[in-house]
Amino acid sequence: MMSGAAKNLQGKFITFEGTEGTGKSTQIQLLQEYLRSQSVKAVVTREPGGTKVGEQVRSLLLESTAVPVDSGTELLLMFAARAQHLEEVIYPALEEGKWVLCDRFTDASYAYQGGGRGIADSEIHKIESVVHEDLKPDLTILLTCTLRTAMQRVSKRGDKDRFEREPARFFERVQDAYLRLAENYPGRFEVIDAEQGVEEVASMIEHVVKTRFLLQEPGRMRP
Ligand code: TMP
Repeated sequence: MMSGAAKNLQGKFITFEGTEGTGKSTQIQLLQEYLRSQSVKAVVTREPGGTKVGEQVRSLLLESTAVPVDSGTELLLMFAARAQHLEEVIYPALEEGKWVLCDRFTDASYAYQGGGRGIADSEIHKIESVVHEDLKPDLTILLTCTLRTAMQRVSKRGDKDRFEREPARFFERVQDAYLRLAENYPGRFEVIDAEQGVEEVASMIEHVVKTRFLLQEPGRMRP
């Protein structure tokens, strides 16, 4: 596994996090369209997934009929899919100067396998160091909503996956873990209230991206 530091990563790496039902996928699409309007090429991808192997790991872990999976195995499979994703999609895109908009990344392992399943952060950190010691997202958008809203949105989608079948208290722990991460890394995280309408949330995200990145690059934005 090559370290990100050895590479010349020119694009921005933006991750989206939150419990299910916060509207991440919609917001990622909208941000990609906004970036396109600003002449920024952005690749949209997701975890677990984003590659052939990763999508197979995704089916293995998410199918509701899946065989029982030990939490340690679940954690290692998330990182196995991530290792492939980094080599095949994320590093090459960033090296080409494209931006990467990723629906979940390592913070999800801390939130779900850490907060949700109870694996110690120190254990997760050890695996993180092996898989991508030097790479951190440039920005992580954490979308939050009440458990009630999340559950309502998820139940509209039809068949629930293996995570969506977890009880409410699992998602409370996941949400708490996400909020703790945001507190611990305030420079990297932006917490956005996803109880608001789709357009309000999208314009807050645009504002964050514009002020953090686009206005910093002379010549990128028209006056
Ligand atoms: P979603 O991205 O469609 O919401 O589904 C992905 C599911 O996988 C979601 O329930 C969160 C879970 N997950 C983890 O438990 N750990 C991880 O590291 C990642 C990336 C996702």
